[in-house]
Formats: sequence, C-alpha cells, structure tokens
Amino acid sequence: MRRQPSRAAPRRRRTFGWWTPGATVRTTDEDAGCDDPGVTHSPAAARPADPADDPLVTRLRAAGCVFAEEEAALLRAAAADDARLADLTARRVAGEPLETVLGWVAFAGRRVAVGPGVFVPRRRTELLARTGVGLARDAGAAPVVVELCCGVAAVATVVAQDVPGARVLAADLDPVAVRWAATNLGARGEAVAGDLYDALPARLRGHVDVLVANAPYVPTHAVATMPVESRAHEPRATVDGGADGLDVQRRLLAGVAAWVRPGGHVAVETGERQAQATAAAFPVGWAVHVLRDDDVDATVVAGRRPT
Ligand SMILES: C[S@@+](CC[C@H](N)C(=O)[O-])C[C@H]1O[C@@H](n2cnc3c(N)ncnc32)[C@H](O)[C@@H]1O
Repeated sequence: MRRQPSRAAPRRRRTFGWWTPGATVRTTDEDAGCDDPGVTHSPAAARPADPADDPLVTRLRAAGCVFAEEEAALLRAAAADDARLADLTARRVAGEPLETVLGWVAFAGRRVAVGPGVFVPRRRTELLARTGVGLARDAGAAPVVVELCCGVAAVATVVAQDVPGARVLAADLDPVAVRWAATNLGARGEAVAGDLYDALPARLRGHVDVLVANAPYVPTHAVATMPVESRAHEPRATVDGGADGLDVQRRLLAGVAAWVRPGGHVAVETGERQAQATAAAFPVGWAVHVLRDDDVDATVVAGRRPT
C-alpha cells in the first residue's frame, strides 16, 4: 500500500511486490485474484453504480491502495454485513496485506487460505509448485512428497490436489503456519511442526520421492529493502536467510541425502543471482539444473539423487 498513485486504468490483477537479490525492489503490482470467479458481492454491502461515488473506493485510494476498485469489490465479497466490512476495511487501510485481510491468496488458479502473522505465498512460487507437480507425476504411483519450510503449504496443497494418490507431508518451524498448512491440505496431506528434518517422521527417512522447499533466502542486509507490507506483517524468520541468504537452504540441502530416496528429486526456490550458490549446496554427485520463469521472476534449482 501507500506507494504508488492510483492509475486511471489499473491492471485487473495484483500481487505483493517481492524482493529478489539483484532485482529492483517492486511494490504492489499484479495478480491476487481480483478476477477470481469465486468472488460474489454481499447484499449487505452493496456497491454504488459509479465508483466515483463509492466511499469505500475513495477511502482505499486515499490510503494508497492502487487497485482500490478491485479491493473494494473483494472486501465487500468477504464481508457478510456492514460491521464486518468496516472491520476488514480498517485493517486494510491500516496497512495489513489484502490477502490476510481477505483470508485467502490466489495461487496457481485456486484460493489458498492465509491469515495474519505468516508468510503470504507469492505468485513466483507457482514455478516451484509446477515443478513439484511434474516431478511427483513422474515418480510413479503414490509418490511421497515433502514440502519443508512450507508456510501455509501452498506448494504442497497444489501437489496434493493435482497429483491424485500422492502422499503429501508439509512442515514448518512456525506452529501458526502449520495450522494454516493443515487447513489448506485438509484430508489430502499432513502438516507438522519442527526445525527442518526434525519435523519429519522417521518412517520417511530414505523414502521421499520429491522434496520441495521455498526456505527464507533474503540476505539479512536486504530485509530492510523489502516492501513495507512484508516487513510489518511477516515474521522476520520467514524471509531472513542470513548473511548471503542461504543459511537455511544450506542446512536443508545438507540433509537431503538422508531423506530422499536414490533417484528422488529436490527442488528449491531461490533468487536468480543466488542460483549457482544454491546449486553448489546440493550434495556432490547429484544432477542439478536451474529452472527460470522470467514472467514471474522465479528461479528454482532442482536436483536428482543418483540411483
Ligand atoms: C519464505 S517463507 C515460504 C513459505 C512457503 N514455502 C511459501 O512459499 O509460501 C519461509 C518459511 O520457512 C519457515 N522456516 C524458516 N526457518 C525454518 C526452519 N529452520 N525449519 C522449518 N521451517 C523454517 C518459515 O517459518 C516460513 O514459513
């Protein structure tokens, strides 16, 4: 919020701006599901025909919301009555991310539940989700898929929904995130809390077909350059990856050989300029390659354990 002037013809979709090492710092821009087909409008909070007469749009715009008309429609759709709309609007105007106010984020063509105090999944992470789905589909019947550092488990949820029969487990250090992960996975998977592999049941040791992770990878010195919505509303531990951003990734990749089966796969989101360092952190002998999607500024390093 509070960064860009309103535009006469805003793009229809928005997302949180996000920081990648070496990239220009972006603020709120595209894609959080304003065109979501599930959006309906509450009769308790009807919208004036002309947006220029809509006090909610005016208030959001004054607070710096670039996509004020779209946000007004989403807030109205989320509110059962005027009191609830007033509450949601107050939170949004105070600077809370739209997604945590609404209770969902658009991710890979679906809604993923999210709430205050956790990391809001970014659109770029859809590359990791697509990669995980592809690897899981290729792994045969009933693949074992683990998402570490799962947050609300957006990636694991996509894999669980798109790969029938997959046995999906998601884990995070933060119990609040794990509760959201459990909500999103429902009966399709399991969510557990703990520090990296400490969270996993011993029965999975050496049996994981696909391991995916979007661990924190922002260098400590760069956290201060992140958009204010992240700095003010996402716990620092969700983004701060240490001096070069790769502390958690290195710990994670140091442990993969004990958990991923021979011939199994690991895919890790990272920054474009960090990709070579991430690749170098894979165990010796693994076949490693870098995937890149410029459209969403996404980088994933994937590696296969030798058979
Ligand atoms: C950048 S967020 C990504 C969350 C999720 N993967 C996503 O893409 O939406 C990183 C996540 O890693 C978790 N995390 C950080 N350190 C961890 C650790 N040592 N063990 C497990 N999870 C950790 C944080 O709690 C946070 O949810």
